Amino acid sequence: MKNVSVIGLGSMGTALARVLLHNGFQVTVWNRSSAKAEPIVKEGAILAPSAASAISASTVSIICVSNYRTSYGILDTEEVRPVLAGRVLVQLSTGSPQQARDNEAWARECNAEYLDGAIAASPSQMGEKDATIFTSGSITAFQQSELVLKCLAGNVPYLGEQVSAASSTELAFLSYLFGSYLGFFHAARILESDGLNVAAFGSMIAHVSQVVGDVIKYESEVIQSETYDNPQSSVNMCMTTVELLMEQAREAGINNEFPVFAQGLFKKALDAGYGHEELGALIKVMR
Ligand SMILES: NC(=O)c1ccc[n+]([C@@H]2O[C@H](COP(=O)([O-])OP(=O)(O)OC[C@H]3O[C@@H](n4cnc5c(N)ncnc54)[C@H](OP(=O)(O)O)[C@@H]3O)[C@@H](O)[C@H]2O)c1
Repeated sequence: MKNVSVIGLGSMGTALARVLLHNGFQVTVWNRSSAKAEPIVKEGAILAPSAASAISASTVSIICVSNYRTSYGILDTEEVRPVLAGRVLVQLSTGSPQQARDNEAWARECNAEYLDGAIAASPSQMGEKDATIFTSGSITAFQQSELVLKCLAGNVPYLGEQVSAASSTELAFLSYLFGSYLGFFHAARILESDGLNVAAFGSMIAHVSQVVGDVIKYESEVIQSETYDNPQSSVNMCMTTVELLMEQAREAGINNEFPVFAQGLFKKALDAGYGHEELGALIKVMR
């Protein structure tokens, strides 16, 4: 039977343990509050009396708790450190790129193989083919945990041995998503101020998401290749759109924080002489 241990039985840890159980793994679990283990034990998981005991039950252990500080509180003890030697630790708590580097160095001191993972899905999506877990770190750790991870999510990109890559990629994705959220909320105020239907607009956005994705892909290639000349959409041209957003906010008396923020960056790019360059040239004033 395939063994795996799961430390942390919050909403996400419980979902991970459940998916693994349903995929035929023998799952050993541990959680600070043991009462939270009761439902999953009823489904077949084995409750270990300590974190050290949970880790010693399997070659691969997943930890998924509130944050890295909590994770150290559980793992950085006299009992756990020796047990980690020769085993694989998969860190699925959310953290920063530097926290991933520090955690890998710490795991190395314990002679453990370390894989950092970033879950880009909700607990109810775990086990689905569209769920994503970005991973990076020890290739040995990835190979030894690949079977486990591919049960947890259909999409498990291994981003290489640079351990910070999973966290950086997830944060980059979240930055893109949150930028879209803020733009969308301002869009909703424009529509509301003219008595229009926000939900209908949301449906329209869903339909054109492929086109939006293509535009972002184009700008990413512009930035990567540093070729800002021969613009499809110049900074000058886009600045007129930002000014129109400012004008509409003034006319309708709505919140203007989003266009003001955009206007600030565009103005810096114009002052730096990038007006006739491709929109992606804005990154030069952000560097
Ligand atoms: N939920 C999501 O939608 C989602 C999505 C992607 C990523 N994640 C990430 O997954 C991780 C876990 O999230 P979650 O939703 O499962 O959180 P949660 O439901 O709040 O569970 C937190 C877990 O951390 C443990 N914990 C907290 N403080 C502790 C301490 N001082 N000592 C020992 N254990 C402690 C809790 O144990 P007790 O039960 O004993 O309190 C519990 O197991 C987070 O890093 C989160 O960012 C979550």
